[in-house]
Amino acid sequence: MKAIVYHKYGSPNVLKLEDVDMPIPMYDEVLVKVHAVSVNRSDWEGLTGKPLYARIGGLFKPQSRILGSDIAGTVEAVGKDVRKFNLGNEVFGLLLNYGGGFAEFACTSEKALALKPASLTFEKAAAIPQAAFIALQGIREKRQVQPGQKVLINGAGGGTGTFAIQLAKLAGAEVTGVDNSEKLELMLSLGADYVIDYTKEDFTKNGQQYDLILDVIAYRSVFAYQRALASNGTYFVVGGSVATMFQILLLGAWIRRTTGKKIRVLAVQTDAKDLVYITELIESGKVKLVIDKRYSLSETAEALRYLGEGHAKGKVVITVEQNNQT
Ligand SMILES: NC(=O)c1ccc[n+]([C@@H]2O[C@H](COP(=O)([O-])OP(=O)(O)OC[C@H]3O[C@@H](n4cnc5c(N)ncnc54)[C@H](OP(=O)(O)O)[C@@H]3O)[C@@H](O)[C@H]2O)c1
Repeated sequence: MKAIVYHKYGSPNVLKLEDVDMPIPMYDEVLVKVHAVSVNRSDWEGLTGKPLYARIGGLFKPQSRILGSDIAGTVEAVGKDVRKFNLGNEVFGLLLNYGGGFAEFACTSEKALALKPASLTFEKAAAIPQAAFIALQGIREKRQVQPGQKVLINGAGGGTGTFAIQLAKLAGAEVTGVDNSEKLELMLSLGADYVIDYTKEDFTKNGQQYDLILDVIAYRSVFAYQRALASNGTYFVVGGSVATMFQILLLGAWIRRTTGKKIRVLAVQTDAKDLVYITELIESGKVKLVIDKRYSLSETAEALRYLGEGHAKGKVVITVEQNNQT
């Protein structure tokens, strides 16, 4: 099969379209013929090897040669223990090891997949999984947002953020979105009450305090985030600098004991039930899917460059041409 492969960390120039062996499904795995795959910041991090956590499993060269985690496609083969799916089913999901999706076929556990509703195209379905999991688990988990509470989303104009703004508004929160100037209008159109251009204003220094902060791109000191939290507030980081994450892991529990403010790294779980839940919100029109650009598989390097250089508003999706037979 054809796949976009890389052998060393670097810029999008290290990505090549190559012929590779087809993956073979294990007992509980499903082989999916990929129709569409979306691009996430995690792919950019895996490509460049930065931040350092992107090198887990491969300090000097990538452990997995194929990036791409959010797929939508048709079931091509199943392992003998697979119960949920049959050949030909249309499915979508987040590949469990966050790789293997920039290819004509990908394999993953049946637990990672859900049936794709007929109302969603493959491109739309592929735009959902990772970003929606982070947003749902950051905003809704343990019912952390109450009506009227102040929620700030840092990096709100990207994949996760465009879902998170809408979920926080659905929960009745007053929402502030932070991103660059190109994305302020988009954030407002999705319901953000206030927007901040991160190139002009530091939200941890403007005197405001928030009940919940969801941060997809953290690089400040833990004390800056503590300052921006209301008493009993919660700060979740999902991505950013290793130094910040390390500080949070080291000092988060102490800050909670001494101030009551919760500052935590959110470990996002893959949950097919979340896929069904978010899809229902999309189908009912309560949540809008924001797809900025579409590329073909052979244009994957350009798609990653577009996201990595900071232009993507919402999601970027790759459509995989359907001309290969198994
Ligand atoms: N914890 C977990 O279990 C887990 C699981 C999966 C993924 N993740 C991580 O979660 C993150 C998800 O990101 P995503 O896919 O939503 O990324 P994304 O689509 O690239 O969105 C990030 C947004 O943040 C903006 N941004 C960049 N620098 C900023 C700054 N200093 N302040 C505010 N905004 C800034 C970006 O804009 P510009 O760059 O255009 O300015 C972009 O719009 C990734 O880091 C991924 O690795 C974590």
